[in-house]
Amino acid sequence: MSPAPDFASYLEARRLEIEAALEAALPRPPSCPARLAEAMRYSLMAGGKRLRPILALAAAEAVGEPAARAEAMPAACAIELIHTYSLVHDDLPAMDDDDLRRGRPTAHIAFGEGLAILVGDALLTQAFVVLGRHTPDASPTLVARRLRASDCLAKAAGAIGMVGGQALDLAATGEATDGASSEEARQALREIHARKTGALIRAAAVSGAILGGADTSATHAVDTYAAQLGLAFQIVDDILDVEGDAANLGKTAGKDAAAGKPTYPALYGLDRSRTLASEAIEAARAALATAGLSGKRLDAIAAWVVGRTH
Ligand code: IPE
Ligand code: IPE
Ligand code: MG
Ligand code: MG
Ligand code: MG
Repeated sequence: MSPAPDFASYLEARRLEIEAALEAALPRPPSCPARLAEAMRYSLMAGGKRLRPILALAAAEAVGEPAARAEAMPAACAIELIHTYSLVHDDLPAMDDDDLRRGRPTAHIAFGEGLAILVGDALLTQAFVVLGRHTPDASPTLVARRLRASDCLAKAAGAIGMVGGQALDLAATGEATDGASSEEARQALREIHARKTGALIRAAAVSGAILGGADTSATHAVDTYAAQLGLAFQIVDDILDVEGDAANLGKTAGKDAAAGKPTYPALYGLDRSRTLASEAIEAARAALATAGLSGKRLDAIAAWVVGRTH
């Protein structure tokens, strides 16, 4: 399903702003070794849907004045830097061992495994360089919001969030066995997805809302929305691994079953997985409605996530 023309042009406009801000966020030689700078740019500027930064900007706009979008841009870039690092490490031979990402050979194929590990390290660290940039004219209110957003991103990225989810994913790889569809196995899968993918998607939306000046109840609604959106997003990712093809996905398909990963299609079948993704999107939209945030871009982003084909 392609997005409505108005929403498609909104996405395109946001993508262009984000690409420019990401380009500016990259370190360059001579302050950083040229080969490292090249490898960081290779992974970061390879396209990608930019869902997480778009979500951060849309959450800021949904709760704040139009100027809120600019205030959320550093956090939006930081999330995309962290997300890209997670992809570089996710693809390493010791993890998912993938050779295609964003339509290109993965970082370790193009630059070697050692440099790919360092690209991940450098992208993660750069996220906090971007977030911590000093702006002497910021009001105490803005500074406090920025600190909260930074805290939210750090927690989502680390051991209690994405990295924790990747550790659980790693431990569960090869464990997907027939008849494993017990409630326990399903609960364990929900936890993997909530951490490895949900945590960053939640942090994107919540940090955007914080920077847009949302009150507690709006922040809570945006968080609930994004938790459901993140679940739907990873269910669709699992489905696309079964149904998609490398040319369209820009990454290898069929890897999850080959690696014995527990996924939604493996545990629930494709039809039920589709239903569960749609239900999560409905729950996401219902959360927006409770805070009077329906009908904004966040609603359209939910439809985009579940209707996407790559
Ligand atoms: C892929 O994320 C990794 C997951 C968490 C499923 P995306 O599908 O957002 O990847 P890009 O950023 O568009 O390449
Ligand atoms: C990745 O999940 C989640 C991350 C934290 C990167 P997947 O392993 O399913 O992502 P893809 O399918 O390789 O993009
Ligand atoms: Mg993985
Ligand atoms: Mg992977
Ligand atoms: Mg996947």
